[in-house]
Amino acid sequence: MTQTQTSARVATDGWQVAAVSDGSEILRTEGLRRRFLSGVEEIVPLDGIDFSARRGEMIAIVGPSGTGKSTLLHLLAALDTPTSGEVYFAGNSLHSMGEAELAEYRNRAVGFVWQRHHLLPDFTAAENVAMPLLVRGKARGQALHAAEGWLGEVGLARRSGQQAGELSGGEQQRVAIARALVNEPVVLLADEPTGDLDERSAEAVFELLERLHQSHHLTSILATHNLSLAKRADRVLALQHGKLAPGAETLAGVAKASARTAGAGASAPGGRG
Ligand SMILES: Nc1ncnc2c1ncn2[C@@H]1O[C@H](COP(=O)(O)OP(=O)(O)OP(=O)(O)O)[C@@H](O)[C@H]1O
Ligand SMILES: [Mg+2]
Repeated sequence: MTQTQTSARVATDGWQVAAVSDGSEILRTEGLRRRFLSGVEEIVPLDGIDFSARRGEMIAIVGPSGTGKSTLLHLLAALDTPTSGEVYFAGNSLHSMGEAELAEYRNRAVGFVWQRHHLLPDFTAAENVAMPLLVRGKARGQALHAAEGWLGEVGLARRSGQQAGELSGGEQQRVAIARALVNEPVVLLADEPTGDLDERSAEAVFELLERLHQSHHLTSILATHNLSLAKRADRVLALQHGKLAPGAETLAGVAKASARTAGAGASAPGGRG
């Protein structure tokens, strides 16, 4: 598709690629490379990632700390730009999109959940969830109404008027998930969404992600250190030495590497899996 065609589509239809679980390809990377310069040191966490996600898939990305999980998710979300290589969404290269189109992509096509929720503590749960709609220019009343619906979906209907800063860690992460989904994206990207939670809250938040993944026909890509939760995904991919590799042996290798680099605590299975 040419630049003019994509721009025309954004102007008329927005990024509302229907969320369906038909197994067709929705995200693809080709030779994705990200290099950082830190002083004189060169760091290349991603060194040629060829990856494809099909609609409806839940994919877990694992790997020891520093292997590039967050970097990869940021590139998929267009929050960062690759040094070389390409990300395609529904066959469209992100590289070929202009700034306005990329802003649409970030706001509408993908939802992002961070390890730390990044909520505005002095705003209510509903106001936080409504924020992406307000950014898009929705009227405040409509945005808050939609936000309250989403808070119901994540089990927090009765907390919608409470300040985000007063909620528990698990509740805050539920609000963050509602905020990520309020624009009804096709793809949900989550960077260690249970990393800051205790075992029981982590299990509850992961169950919620699984339920929303199914009911909203999402394609979900989650980075996690929690191998027992990772195994519940449709596919587990491991980042090692700049490459992404599938397979159970890789997972076992990563478990050992995680234990070595981060200590047993960081990689210990947290859920009941
Ligand atoms: N903006 C940056 N500038 C310089 N180096 C960076 C930058 N962002 C990431 N890095 C480096 O890239 C590597 C990969 O980082 P990244 O955060 O993607 O790892 P990760 O797998 O998400 O780790 P963790 O499991 O601890 O979250 C690290 O060595 C990190 O220091
Ligand atoms: Mg990370």
